[in-house]
This record gives sequence, structure tokens and C-alpha cells, in this order.
Amino acid sequence: MRTIIEPFRIKSVEPLHHTTPAERERYLADAGYNLFRIDARHILIDLLTDSGTSAMSTEQWAAIMRGDESYAGSESFFRLKRVADELTGLRHMVPTHQGRAAERILFTVMCKPGDVVPSNTHFDTTRANVEFTGARAIDLPIAEARDTQARLDFKGNMDVAALEALIAAEGAAKIPLVMLTVTNNSGGGQPVSMANIEAVKAVCARHGIPLYLDACRFAENAWFIRMREPGYGEWSPKRIAQKMFSLADGCTFSAKKDAFANIGGLLCSNDDRVFQQETNLLILTEGFPTYGGLAGRDLDAIAVGLEEILDPDYLHYRIVSTGYLGRHIADGGVPIVEPPGGHAIYIDAARMLPHIPPNEFPGQALAVELYRHAGIRSVEIGSLMFAGAAQHELLRLAIPRRVYTQSHIDYVVEAILEVNAKKDAIRGMEIVEAPPFLRHFSARLRPL
Ligand code: F0G
Repeated sequence: MRTIIEPFRIKSVEPLHHTTPAERERYLADAGYNLFRIDARHILIDLLTDSGTSAMSTEQWAAIMRGDESYAGSESFFRLKRVADELTGLRHMVPTHQGRAAERILFTVMCKPGDVVPSNTHFDTTRANVEFTGARAIDLPIAEARDTQARLDFKGNMDVAALEALIAAEGAAKIPLVMLTVTNNSGGGQPVSMANIEAVKAVCARHGIPLYLDACRFAENAWFIRMREPGYGEWSPKRIAQKMFSLADGCTFSAKKDAFANIGGLLCSNDDRVFQQETNLLILTEGFPTYGGLAGRDLDAIAVGLEEILDPDYLHYRIVSTGYLGRHIADGGVPIVEPPGGHAIYIDAARMLPHIPPNEFPGQALAVELYRHAGIRSVEIGSLMFAGAAQHELLRLAIPRRVYTQSHIDYVVEAILEVNAKKDAIRGMEIVEAPPFLRHFSARLRPL
């Protein structure tokens, strides 16, 4: 059989709410043309993020009822620890309320002003948390990643020669850690190969620099390795993931992605001294080390999700269905970041709307038009999000895990192709007001 079906059936449903074009026009104006400011009940299909938006399984809901809400030494913690230890092999683990809390604790402990933290590409919260300590966040993607149209198997890789050059220029003492984001979210949801992780690890080891994985989408990355990297075709996703983690000295993890949880994160490390300092900070801001800002039931949901995510049937469906959206709009003439990523499809808005310059936010103009046309919410990843640091003008369509069916995606495809047919009429935007950082969340804009 060629037809790929969702590897689950639906037990509990949520209604979707349609809106009229006139209502959407009003909601847009009221929201300052910023989709973060639109109430979720006014959205039909929500592709804003794949983070915290997953549908949990019956086993996860059952695990939630088993949650042990003891302040210290909760059974839920030990269930999660067993699963995390087996997966990562890293000596120490604490839960955090989400990924960025793990990042803040990690960078607070490891970085000081003047330090440099390289990554294949930092996610916006990672970058912000590095910079908040006075260190510099440096992106070192491979050169081919600059071309959105280049089709590479592992376009999320780090430029290893550039890493060597950076270490030579700055000195290893100024680089407290190297990060690898798997998959590379800001770089188009593209995977990192095992060979690249090994090469980066070898450089780090030679200079005595720890390597950390930003492991939010480790399972999707593992699946790409299995499908694309010679030698891994017979490996289980779990075994591949275990090997990825075995090359790392620690990791940050947002359980809101590849653990099917609605909240939560992990911080793991092999360094006893660093971990002790991390635990002290954790207690100050997140909570006791056996719950780290989460309810016991959340820990149980994460523990089950971490195992479910590595199911080959699920990962096959996940990667193929994301590719389905990408191929259908690309074949219809919409330029996407090639090849399709794991959790999202990224439209190259600069290429699609060449009449709108970066300072008029083509990605945002497209996001607004897609909502206006069909009630679909997406997110700009470009000059509105990153200001002068933007490398591309992208519109991300992130796909929540196990939430939408193929007919929802067919609706999205149709809407995007209809918007593409009238793209010449789309106008740019200008900012009316914006806060000093992470402005994309709350800025108000207006059409030009
Ligand atoms: N690292 C990466 C690669 C991420 O994609 C995210 C979140 C984080 C860290 C932070 O994790 O949200 O749990 O604090 N990405 C979401 C997104 C928000 O929409 O891509 P968090």
C-alpha cells in the first residue's frame, strides 16, 4: 500500500471555529497585524508552533493520573529519570518548566561576559539567554544552508572548519561550550548528521570544550539519520538517539516538542561540578530538583512521551506528512526551504514576494495574508523576529504532533496556493510600536 495513514485514531476531539473574512479583518486590525496577539479561538488551523501543542496519547493521560505530587523524591521523577537515563546516558538530569529554563540555568553557570558560544544555529531563546549573560552567540551553519533551494540531506550541519577557525581566533578558554541544535529549527528544521556530531565532538574534545545538544527534536533528527545516513538504515531510532547523546557532554531539552508534552524541559550534564551549581540555581528559580517547576503528573507525561516519540511508525508518518505539505506547495510554485524539514515547512517569503524588501517584512505580510484568506496562523522567522541578524525572510508552518489530519493539511495547501495566485497584490508592513527585545511577540504593525 502506498497510502500513508495517521498511525493513531482519535478518542477525544476539540471543535474548530470558522470565522468570516470580515471578522478576520477586524481581528487583524485589533491585533496590530501580529498573529501572536490574536485569540486562539479566532484561529482555524494553528501552525504557529509545534511546541506544547501535541496531542497526548491514552498512555500519557493514564500516566498523568499516576502522577506523584510529593514535593521531594516523587515517584514520577524516578520514572522520568529511568527513561531519560536510558536514552541519554548522561549522568545527571533535572527537570525544568520548559527548554528555555534549562538554557538560562546552563548559560548562567557556564558563561561569563566576553565568552563565545557557537552553535549550528541558535534558536531565538538560546541566543537571548547566551547574550543575557554577556557572552556572544555565534551561528556556524554550513555555507550551503544559506541557499534555501539547495537540497542537502543534512543541511542543519555545523561548519566544522569554521568552528576550528573560531576556536583558533578566540582561544578555547573563551568558549565554555559548543551547542548543536537537532534538528536545526531556525535553519529550516533541517537535520544534523551523525558524522557531523562526531566531527564537532572530535574538535571539542581536542580543545577540552564540552559539547551540548539542544535536543528538542532529537527523535526527528534520529529518523532523518536512519533514512539518509549510510550505515544507520537498520538501526532503531532509539539506538540512533542513544548514539547522538553519547557524543554529548550534556543537553538542554524542551519536552514540548519531541516528548509530546504540553509543558516541561530537561537539563542533563556529565559534569559533577557544573551540575551541582545548576541544581543550586534550579532550587532558586524552578523548584526542588525532583520536580523542577513541573507537577509530578507532567513528569509522567514526559516519561511516556519520550518513549512513544521513538516509535518508527510514528516517525515515518511524521516526516512523510511534513514532506507532503512541503511537496504540494512547492510543486504548486511556492518556494520553500528545501528539502522539507522535520517539524515544519518554511516558505521563502523573500523569494515568493520579491517586490517586498526585508525592511517591509515579507514573511509577516505573508503570515497576515494567510490568516486573512483562510484563518491559518503561521509565524514569521525573518527581519521582524531577528531584526538585523536575519539571514532569511521565512514564514514557518509548524505542524503540531498528532493534531491535524491530512484533510486539514489539504486545506492548508489549497489556501497557500490561492494566496500564491494573488501574491503580487500583497503589500509590505511597517512597525508602529515594538519593545526592545523579542519584539515579534508583541509588536504592532500596519500595512503599507
Ligand atoms: N531550542 C529550540 C531549538 C527550540 O525550537 C525551542 C523552542 C527552544 C529551544 C526553547 O524551548 O519553548 O520549551 O522554552 N521553540 C518553540 C518554537 C517555541 O516555536 O520553535 P521552550
